[in-house]
Amino acid sequence: MGKLTVEIKDHEYEVHIGREAYSLFATDYAALLDSADRIGILADENVAELHLPLLQEALRKNGRDILVKTVPAGESCKSPAVYVECQSFLLQNNFTRNSLLIAFGGGACGDLTGFVAATFMRGIRYVQCPTTILAHDSAVGGKTAINMPEGKNMVGSFHQPSGVIFQTELFETLPPREIRSGMAELLKHAFISDKDWTDALLSNPSFSKPSVEWLATELLKGIDVKARIVAEDEFEHSTRKFLNFGHTFGHAVEAVCGFGGLSHGECVMIGMAYSLILSEEQDGSIDAEVTKRFIQFALSNGYTFQPVHEHSFEQFLQYMEKDKKASFGKLNFVLLNEVGKPYVTEVTREHCEFAFDRLREKTEGEPIR
Ligand SMILES: NC(=O)c1ccc[n+]([C@@H]2O[C@H](COP(=O)([O-])OP(=O)(O)OC[C@H]3O[C@@H](n4cnc5c(N)ncnc54)[C@H](O)[C@@H]3O)[C@@H](O)[C@H]2O)c1
Ligand SMILES: [Zn+2]
Repeated sequence: MGKLTVEIKDHEYEVHIGREAYSLFATDYAALLDSADRIGILADENVAELHLPLLQEALRKNGRDILVKTVPAGESCKSPAVYVECQSFLLQNNFTRNSLLIAFGGGACGDLTGFVAATFMRGIRYVQCPTTILAHDSAVGGKTAINMPEGKNMVGSFHQPSGVIFQTELFETLPPREIRSGMAELLKHAFISDKDWTDALLSNPSFSKPSVEWLATELLKGIDVKARIVAEDEFEHSTRKFLNFGHTFGHAVEAVCGFGGLSHGECVMIGMAYSLILSEEQDGSIDAEVTKRFIQFALSNGYTFQPVHEHSFEQFLQYMEKDKKASFGKLNFVLLNEVGKPYVTEVTREHCEFAFDRLREKTEGEPIR
């Protein structure tokens, strides 16, 4: 079983990844469970339907009564209404400051549970049991949030978990779109940290159908990149921004397409192509061949660039300007000096538009899925 320690100033925790990882509840995590007066699982309803007995069985070995609240699947659980329901659920079941929550689902359920835990009685402990590939990114680092009618992730806090446990068999039920989503974030971690690893991923014929064993080692590498950056910059003042590679444009694609058509990572894939083109324009930066290879790789692995052909630059710009990372009207991007070497820079509107036109040219004539 893979294991890694996240070291944040006042808070250290472990990430475990492998088959039958939930058996750790009876060993490494037994003391944590014992120290809680109440334990509750907040479970994504799809994940609960598929896998809840597995988690309950592992927890039962500890002999504790565990309460379960299922929440709507995916992004729809990150709403103020569901957040309030969860808080009421805890209050009605006599949870206290010494209780423990377990997040059981993808990044959405993890974000919701983290924020519920961060704010219930001014903060209680929680464990992440993530069930998607993408969650190798979201479950580590302590960012939690829910959405508002005005925008995504607008209300949240930093609250680190007590542990993160991935039982990799659960990935076997992921639909192809969710696999593509998570794999895009893995590729992002490679692009911002390591040229050889990026090359290896771009040459991997099983990228869109990864085996569970391969995932365990690769996701640990991705988690390591994230954990090291977060340890250096917990509150996103400096290097943590590198994790936003592909996200300024990617978030705009998500917003323009109305959150739902494409998964988060599929939008980030488009955003990474856009950032590579912007990087090409900077001195001594990315070679056009890198972008070309990336776009071909994306297309042959089932990703699409259709949104940039269906919407105007102005539509994307409007959202990029609203992005939390845009300050005082300037557009900030994470670009690459070379693969593995990210930096943050401001880009003018004109450059942004030029890169958009180039992205259209480079992805013209792609098959419509
Ligand atoms: N906190 C952070 O640092 C951070 C970082 C990145 C993303 N996020 C957040 O993560 C969320 C996206 O997370 P996600 O991509 O994991 O998707 P998700 O949680 O929205 O889940 C996607 C879909 O997959 C289903 N699912 C989950 N696990 C499954 C399994 N094992 N088998 C079958 N179906 C399964 C869910 O029911 C849902 O329908 C977004 O809300 C995003 O804002 C947070
Ligand atoms: Zn992301």
